[in-house]
Amino acid sequence: MKKLMDLISEEMKNAFEAAGYERELGKVTVSNRPDLCEYQCNGAMAGAKRYKKAPLVIADEVAKKIADSSVFEMAQAVAPGFLNLTLKGEFVGEYVKGMRAEKKYGLEEAKKPIKLVLDYGGANVAKPLHVGHLRSAIIGESVKRIARYMGHEVVSDVHLGDWGQPMGLIMNELKIRQPDLVYFDESYTGEYPKEPPFTVSELEEIYPFASKRSKEDAAYKADAMSCTYKLQSGVRGYRALWNHIIAVSVTDLRKIYGRLNVDFDLWNGESAVHDLIPGMVDYMKKGGYAYLSDGALVVDVKEESDTKEIPPCMILKSDGASLYGTTDLATIMMRMEQIKPDKLIYFTDKRQELYFEQVFRCAKKTKLVNDDTQLKFVGFGTMNGKDGKPFKTRDGGVMRLECLIDEINEEMLRKIMENRKGQSEDEAKETAEIVALSALKYGDLSNQAGKDYIFDIDRFTSFEGDTGPYILYTIVRIKSILAKYRENGGSVEAVRFGIRPPENDSEKQLMLELSGFNAAIEAAYDETAPHKICAYIYALANAFNRFYHETKIISEEDEARKAGRIALLALTCDVLEASIDLLGFSAPERM
Ligand code: ARG
Repeated sequence: MKKLMDLISEEMKNAFEAAGYERELGKVTVSNRPDLCEYQCNGAMAGAKRYKKAPLVIADEVAKKIADSSVFEMAQAVAPGFLNLTLKGEFVGEYVKGMRAEKKYGLEEAKKPIKLVLDYGGANVAKPLHVGHLRSAIIGESVKRIARYMGHEVVSDVHLGDWGQPMGLIMNELKIRQPDLVYFDESYTGEYPKEPPFTVSELEEIYPFASKRSKEDAAYKADAMSCTYKLQSGVRGYRALWNHIIAVSVTDLRKIYGRLNVDFDLWNGESAVHDLIPGMVDYMKKGGYAYLSDGALVVDVKEESDTKEIPPCMILKSDGASLYGTTDLATIMMRMEQIKPDKLIYFTDKRQELYFEQVFRCAKKTKLVNDDTQLKFVGFGTMNGKDGKPFKTRDGGVMRLECLIDEINEEMLRKIMENRKGQSEDEAKETAEIVALSALKYGDLSNQAGKDYIFDIDRFTSFEGDTGPYILYTIVRIKSILAKYRENGGSVEAVRFGIRPPENDSEKQLMLELSGFNAAIEAAYDETAPHKICAYIYALANAFNRFYHETKIISEEDEARKAGRIALLALTCDVLEASIDLLGFSAPERM
């Protein structure tokens, strides 16, 4: 379906043309005086100079041309030359009725679907997830769902940190603690045990311990580095042990991402491209892109138009070791070969912005990607505590993601138990988890990604205001009205197409909000901005709640009228649920 705003702009442009003016002047916008009108057009003001006429005169002429429009109820020319516009109820009703008949409520899928790779999550093996990983997972997952809904083909990849120095540190410490493990016996040629010699909690305890010690003890660090080297050069036992580390860690990661309703098509790690690096380096040298600078291999990426200094992209350190960026470049190369995406999007902390700029430029310059391959970085701000500083545990440590989820679940359960209506404790617990996820995700996604925000558990879990629980509460409220209708013998399915023109202001406002679905989703996709969906559903939920307070629904005596309102409610509920699915959470049956 065409967007409502386009339809009304079209009507207004026709009027400008009929009055003898240029069509383009007829652009309509949402009114900034909602007390006076719903929409407005400032075209007469813009045309005044050009046509050497007072804007009010132009506006008046145009207004006359829409006197019998089927779109506008009112088109009023007001000083100094605005057109104040109000839509016909029948027109709005028809539009919303049209949404009901469409699978995606009037959203038109992309005419030319593209293939995208989304790189988010970024978990590290054997290290607990922390809140820094939370935003990447939440935002990336939502963008994936939005892009798919738009009809694009999306491949998501968690891009595990599973290679490099941390692996050597862990193995070295394991070797000290369990020197007799068969993995360290380099003369061993038999099969290795299937069971890992550690649990995930042991692994997570080992890493910080080893990392700390390596900073204080040079010999220890050297041993760890030699373990990394053995792993990377393919020593059997080290590879086998590493496989256990990956397996144990990934099992745990899947669980936590599962709790967040986040999943990935690919669980590739940095290790996946290890063997591709020498070939890529060669290619960059042969192509004349990479050169030695102070012993290190670099590619220049600055451009003439730069206003700030963009340092060269380092490919190999002077000791020949590869870096974080080398891995990202080799990963781009692999993705281009295996997946052939049109666009790649990366989601990390915005402090990595310059880094990704270097990587993207290097990939373009060295032709690892095509000239028209789009490379996009979505950098997000920090999640802060109430003190305005990066979110920490009460004793000042790094908060584990799992603990954060537990905390918000507990708070939600407490609130739900407070006004629980006949729910058993188990049911309340289940509900609390669903609602808590909405609190966490909506609290994050409702902010523009690039901005910092404050994790305020009280506000996020509140049933009132711009929160996830408020949206879910609205959905549950609608569902309970629909259930009542069914209990009284009605069939929602039978009446759902029967949306009628609005009969009061709040009903019309609800329809107007509803009609913005396609525009909101399209904007969220185009601008990689899930917060646009949050803003849409918040306004929609508000409009619904106002309508609900002002209008009889179940108690309406006129059956046809009642059926029309039920149809409107059912559509509102479906649109809200489709929207929250794009944000990555769902609604419970009751709350
Ligand atoms: N593993 C990294 C970290 O924990 C994030 C990876 C981000 N993605 C990327 N393609 N570099 O900081």
